[in-house]
Amino acid sequence: MTTSTETQEIVIVTGASTGMGAATAREMARRGFHVLAGVRRDSDGEVLLAAGIEPVILDITNQDHIAALAARIDDDPQGRVLRALVNNAGLPCAGPVEVVPLDEWRRLFEVNVFGHVALTQALLPALVRGKGRIVNISSLNGKVSMAGYGAYAGSKFAMEAVSDALRNELAPSGVQVVVVEPGGVQTQMAGTGLASLSRLSARMTPEQNARYGALTQALPSHVAAFTKAGVTSETAARTIAKAATVRKPRTRYTIGAMATFLIRASRFLPDRVLDRMTTSDLRKHYPDRVRPATAARHA
Ligand SMILES: NC(=O)c1ccc[n+]([C@@H]2O[C@H](COP(=O)([O-])OP(=O)(O)OC[C@H]3O[C@@H](n4cnc5c(N)ncnc54)[C@H](OP(=O)(O)O)[C@@H]3O)[C@@H](O)[C@H]2O)c1
Repeated sequence: MTTSTETQEIVIVTGASTGMGAATAREMARRGFHVLAGVRRDSDGEVLLAAGIEPVILDITNQDHIAALAARIDDDPQGRVLRALVNNAGLPCAGPVEVVPLDEWRRLFEVNVFGHVALTQALLPALVRGKGRIVNISSLNGKVSMAGYGAYAGSKFAMEAVSDALRNELAPSGVQVVVVEPGGVQTQMAGTGLASLSRLSARMTPEQNARYGALTQALPSHVAAFTKAGVTSETAARTIAKAATVRKPRTRYTIGAMATFLIRASRFLPDRVLDRMTTSDLRKHYPDRVRPATAARHA
């Protein structure tokens, strides 16, 4: 599987401590690339080091970390080129638009959008030199939004738009930009998102509770079912690796049957029909005592 070309090439994967990022770092290393894996803790780096991967301390919202990584690429002792940047790091967020505090919106966009933009800007000279590739990990929610997912979907929709612009801007330079849109993937992201949701729910006013109580009660079960029905990180990593390496990549790759179906459907179904589909999916998770009256208010 390993070729002499691949060992001369570097791949950067952000958010490689867990989930899809860790699996992608391993998959790319298995394919013979020199992988620089972004982590935020030394302990996460040690695990990757044991697998032949070079960990780098990288919080994508930290300009010093970003500058150090760009310098690491420019000063690579073996003069290897940057083959791909996989912008994978991400935060979840669940909760109604009205209820998610503005500072959480900002924190989410700081990571899910501005962090990726900052890192991409810093590494673009190296990517252009190596005619490398940018792989942005979006989501089913980068194309389909629904009640309770406004903040998260907003950040992913934003990255979809950024990716479309970048793809066209960079085509003349030979840098390809590919978007990966996973549906459910069995990672710890759901657990992280639900912890912040329970903090939000506890802070809702009585009026907000009347408006969104049923929805916020349904979200944990909806997220859990979505994740449980998802693919493994290893399966997702194989698609991400394909997006990063195939000679003529598509502009987008979906992961999982649900993402493929809903993203295709969203292209031709009227908004109201899509609303009914996503709402009826959520409604299955509403607490019995509020079904269907309260649920109907979200239809
Ligand atoms: N799981 C799904 O069902 C699903 C579906 C669609 C899309 N996605 C997307 O797939 C990507 C990977 O998610 P995952 O499911 O593998 O989740 P995960 O296991 O929670 O991984 C998220 C990664 O992002 C890192 N991260 C968070 N904030 C960061 C920051 N400021 N700087 C650098 N790294 C940071 C985390 O590092 P720490 O360990 O240090 O926090 C972790 O390594 C995300 O972009 C997510 O939105 C996931």
